[in-house]
Amino acid sequence: MNSPKSIPHPFPYQGSKRRLAADILARMPERVGVLYEPFAGSGALTIAAALDARADSFVLADLNGPLVSLWKSILEKPEDLCDEYERLWTSQEGREPDFYSEVRLRFNQHQRPADLLYILARCVKAAVRYNVRGEFNNSPDHRRRGMRPATMRANILAVSSLLAERAKAIEADYRDVLSQAGPADLVYMDPPYQGVSNTRDHRYIRGLDHAEFVGALEDLNARHVPYIISYDGRTGDKTYGEELPSHLGLTRYEVFAGQSSQATLLGKSA
Ligand SMILES: C[S@@+](CC[C@H](N)C(=O)[O-])C[C@H]1O[C@@H](n2cnc3c(N)ncnc32)[C@H](O)[C@@H]1O
Repeated sequence: MNSPKSIPHPFPYQGSKRRLAADILARMPERVGVLYEPFAGSGALTIAAALDARADSFVLADLNGPLVSLWKSILEKPEDLCDEYERLWTSQEGREPDFYSEVRLRFNQHQRPADLLYILARCVKAAVRYNVRGEFNNSPDHRRRGMRPATMRANILAVSSLLAERAKAIEADYRDVLSQAGPADLVYMDPPYQGVSNTRDHRYIRGLDHAEFVGALEDLNARHVPYIISYDGRTGDKTYGEELPSHLGLTRYEVFAGQSSQATLLGKSA
C-alpha cells in the first residue's frame, strides 16, 4: 500500500482524500472493472487505486467544468500545462498579490486550465469558492508562493503517465455518471460535505440535495452496483450533516481524518 507521500497529487485541492486514500482502498475489492469517481476533485482515490492496479480503467467526473478541463490538460498535454504554470509562477516574482488578482480575473473570463492551476496553488487552503455570480473569489495565501514549478511538474507528469491511457475526465452531474456503472465496477463518492455546502458559504458550484442523493443510492442498490461513500464526519461529539438512512443497508466505518482544515480556516483547532 502506498503512503500518502508517495501518492502524487495533480494539484492542491481542499477536501483531497490523499491522506485517507489507503484507508479507503482497504475497503475496496482487490480488482474492479471501472472505478468511477463522480465527485472527482483532485481524484486522490483514483490515483491511489491506479498505483495499486485496482481497476482496469478510471472515470474522473466533476460538475465543475474548468476543473475537468484542467484534468483533460493533465491527461492529454501535461508538458504544455507545466510550462504555462512555470511561466505564471516565475512572472509573479515581486508583485504576487496583484499578479494573483490579474490571473483570477482572467480565469473568471476565460477559464484556462493553467490559470486555475496557478490559482489553486496560491489561494487560501486550495479552496474552490465562488461568489453569487459564479466567479472564483478566494483570496491568495500571502504566506506562500505556491508549489514550485519543478515539484508541480513532477506531480503532474507522474499522474499523467499513470492515468493517461486508462482514464477519462468528464464534466457531468454525479447522477449521469452513476447511470453508466455496472455490478463489476465500483463507484467512489466524495460529495461536498453537508456541513459546509448547505450554508451561505458555498464552497462548490452547487450543494448536494440529500433526498436526491439517497434516491441515487437506492437506484445503485437496485442495480447491484457496488459503491463506497466518504460522508461527512464528526469532531469529538459534534457531527455534521444528515445521516444516510438505514434502509440503504450501508456499513459505516470511521476513519481518523486528522486536524479539521475547515476549523483551521476559521481560526480554531479541532
Ligand atoms: C469533497 S470534493 C472531492 C475531493 C476529492 N475526493 C479529492 O480527492 O480531491 C467534492 C467535489 O464534488 C464536486 N461536485 C459538487 N456537486 C457535484 C455534483 N452535483 N455532481 C458532480 N460533482 C459535484 C465539486 O466540484 C468537488 O470537486
